Amino acid sequence: MPADPARARPGLGASATVEGMRIHVVDHPLVAHKLTTLRDTRTDSPTFRRLADELVTLLAYEATRDVRTEQVDIQTPVTATTGVRLARPRPLVVPILRAGLGMLDGMVRLLPTAEVGFLGMIRDEETLQASTYATRMPEDLSGRQVYVLDPMLATGGTLVAAIDELISRGADDVTALCLLAAPEGVEVMERELDGSPVTVVTAAIDERLNEHGYIVPGLGDAGDRMYGSAD
Ligand code: URA
Repeated sequence: MPADPARARPGLGASATVEGMRIHVVDHPLVAHKLTTLRDTRTDSPTFRRLADELVTLLAYEATRDVRTEQVDIQTPVTATTGVRLARPRPLVVPILRAGLGMLDGMVRLLPTAEVGFLGMIRDEETLQASTYATRMPEDLSGRQVYVLDPMLATGGTLVAAIDELISRGADDVTALCLLAAPEGVEVMERELDGSPVTVVTAAIDERLNEHGYIVPGLGDAGDRMYGSAD
């Protein structure tokens, strides 16, 4: 019987803390429904982009559960009361180019006051090593909560390099949003980021990586599915 990708790692169906890094698999029928359509090879790019956007908003709802807030006094039409608003410094959202860009709108829809930085990273398809080709974000991220967007946690190399960069700039709370994750990538993250303040939020942990570094069953090349191949 083929493994149910949404439950490929029993025990991680909800939230689990493994050696310091937290991983949260969002177990919700709407998430599973949208993910299934994203996986389907017949889904065209416009539909893929729309569904990825909707899926990110659902993941973002879970990912921002611990976003920092502060008390604020307000006046309703009826009375004075106390509520909350997002605390300063504002959260930073960092899509990893290219495919992370397709997750940005879905994320900032829930966090419209967040600032946005950019990290351009590319994976060598032979060595599967990640390298950075563009960086645009504040030098000092002290005290900032950062949400990093990368659709596919495959080997883990890109996300580890990105999160190392964010932590070296002072980020003290990093949440990675991924549409899909491979067990191999999760293990690399756990090993390399042990003890770091990192949470991964994903729609599913799939079965494995294939010999080309693609997630199985996966959804193919997320960038190509969103934007077509730019070769
Ligand atoms: N990157 C992708 O776009 N897809 C995969 O399956 C793995 C890495």
